[in-house]
Amino acid sequence: MKNLGMILLTLALVSVACAKVITTKEADVRFGSDTEENQGDQLKAGDELAQNDKSDERDNVQFSNGKLGGITRFEKVPADEERLIKDMEVLLQEKMSTDYPAGQTRRDAHPKNLACLQAEFIVEPNIPAELKKGIFEFPQTYSAWVRISSSSGKIQSDKVKDLRGFAIKIMGVKGERFQTQNEEKETQDFVLISYPTMPLGTVKLFHDAVYYSIKWSPLVFFSRLVVSGKFHIINELRKARQNQTSPLDIRYWSMTPYLYGADHSVKYSLVPTSRIKSSLPPMLTDNYLTDNMEKHLAANEASFDFMIQMQKNPGRMPVEDAGVDWSEKESPFIKVATLRIPPQAFRTQEREELAEDLSFSPAHSLIEHRPIGGINRARVEIYRYLSEFRHKQNNKHLIDPRK
Ligand code: HEM
Repeated sequence: MKNLGMILLTLALVSVACAKVITTKEADVRFGSDTEENQGDQLKAGDELAQNDKSDERDNVQFSNGKLGGITRFEKVPADEERLIKDMEVLLQEKMSTDYPAGQTRRDAHPKNLACLQAEFIVEPNIPAELKKGIFEFPQTYSAWVRISSSSGKIQSDKVKDLRGFAIKIMGVKGERFQTQNEEKETQDFVLISYPTMPLGTVKLFHDAVYYSIKWSPLVFFSRLVVSGKFHIINELRKARQNQTSPLDIRYWSMTPYLYGADHSVKYSLVPTSRIKSSLPPMLTDNYLTDNMEKHLAANEASFDFMIQMQKNPGRMPVEDAGVDWSEKESPFIKVATLRIPPQAFRTQEREELAEDLSFSPAHSLIEHRPIGGINRARVEIYRYLSEFRHKQNNKHLIDPRK
């Protein structure tokens, strides 16, 4: 740990020097044309981590006519957010173009598919009246697909500690959509991951991580975090990555908040409830996570409680910083559905292809469950943009699964 500190400190000094070079040499790549606004940004680029979250904020657009469109009253949009999101789209698309030859383009994040599973999403019959919103209004059983993934941007052995993603696509969900253009018509996606908070919890921080990691190296980004007093973020990023027994044994969180009806914002969690659990093999292997799921689902079902956590106090449970844990003591999770994964043989060519063809996004949603907060505003744009790019490169059409 001490050594790591020394290395980071040394790198920090290098990075301060690098920052100066970036502002002059690469400002055109980052900030586009030389408008007055952009010139201002160029001058600020060297110390942007320190200035995180201090940008001007646009006025919120309140709900109108009972519609939940625009920016919700829970949100505050920093003035430069749109530019940072566009910038990330360009950087990530460039990276995908260099990482993969056309025809074999994979997701930029979570490219390793661990399992693509058929599932049922069963809405609870006894939800309190005030929580009967959107898909949770009536008790009903929906068909769903689940894609379980490793989070690293490159496909690597399961031996390497990582976060695991758990993306659910529920089908046949009727109702008003969050977005109507170029989107799936009857799906409700819930995208979760094996850690409660996103340590890079604002668009600015996430943008800087993407920018410095692609243009320089992740170490330069980490050293900048150290310089700006954000060492705890490195700690969190390290803590989040683990060698799990099986993705069917662990808990997942949405990390980011979502609307719940017109009046509430919530985070989601999936809590494992299966009767059987896997164990770590004596020697970890490249695909032990998929092997363990295969063994589990050969004869037994897996199950999870799908739970919501209501925002109680906007100060302690912010919508605009996904890095802040919403205390379970202050607002315990409440079960609203069961996710049931029946026994199945999933290691087939067909499922592998489906895992590649599907697109999961917080934007695939009823308006009552629309994504909110900066990180989600970024994801809504970036997932669509990069999924379209991925499918185009592979000469595939986007699919809109109905059953
Ligand atoms: C601004 C922040 C983020 C960016 C830029 C980002 C970027 C991406 C991209 C580019 C993909 C691949 C999309 C595709 O090609 O279909 C992806 C997938 C994914 N992301 Fe994010 N992500 C962000 C935040 C998050 C957060 C907060 C979570 C927490 C739940 C998350 C969980 C996932 C999961 C589970 C997948 C895999 C979905 C699948 O199986 O298709 N991401 N992300």
